[in-house]
Amino acid sequence: MQIPTDAEIRSLHRDYAPTPAAFEVVFEHCQLVCSVAEQFFAGRAVDTDLVRAGALLHDIGVYRLESSAYVRHGVLGHELLASLGFPVEICRFASCHTGVGITRDDVVRQALPIPVDDYLPRTPEEGLVLYADKFHSKRTPPVFLTGDTYAAEVARFGPDKVRAFGMLRQRYGDPSLDTLSAATGYAVI
Ligand SMILES: [Fe+2]
Repeated sequence: MQIPTDAEIRSLHRDYAPTPAAFEVVFEHCQLVCSVAEQFFAGRAVDTDLVRAGALLHDIGVYRLESSAYVRHGVLGHELLASLGFPVEICRFASCHTGVGITRDDVVRQALPIPVDDYLPRTPEEGLVLYADKFHSKRTPPVFLTGDTYAAEVARFGPDKVRAFGMLRQRYGDPSLDTLSAATGYAVI
């Protein structure tokens, strides 16, 4: 599989961001998620180039949201990447990183505005991008989240989601966020 380079991914962000401000926020977030994911590379059997590309591309669908619900950014990103000819292994980083994974049951019960399907990581690479994404938020101003803060925030989606996050935390451990916080000026909450 041809994995896009950092420079190619950066120019995709430039091409699809509706404004320079959107590019700054989304691309920086993707780079920070990539940095968090890299902390978990040591001793792990993952294709690190694939994880890096997945992290850098995972939120590209945010540019396509316009006025639609935020939960749609994953499928929109998957569609965008597929339309550009990327293989499904790349597209899935967009559709399968939301929260701790969206199940078919979640889509039905919460009447989510996305096709009824499972949007769950299936590979170690997809799992790592999903997990790393939980520790930085594009909210205004952007912040880093500790594991405890994310666990508290995900509680509103139900105890099964808290459990799923707990299992991920057990598998990977918590990243260290202080260096990234110092480099960016974004608080750790
Ligand atoms: Fe993200």
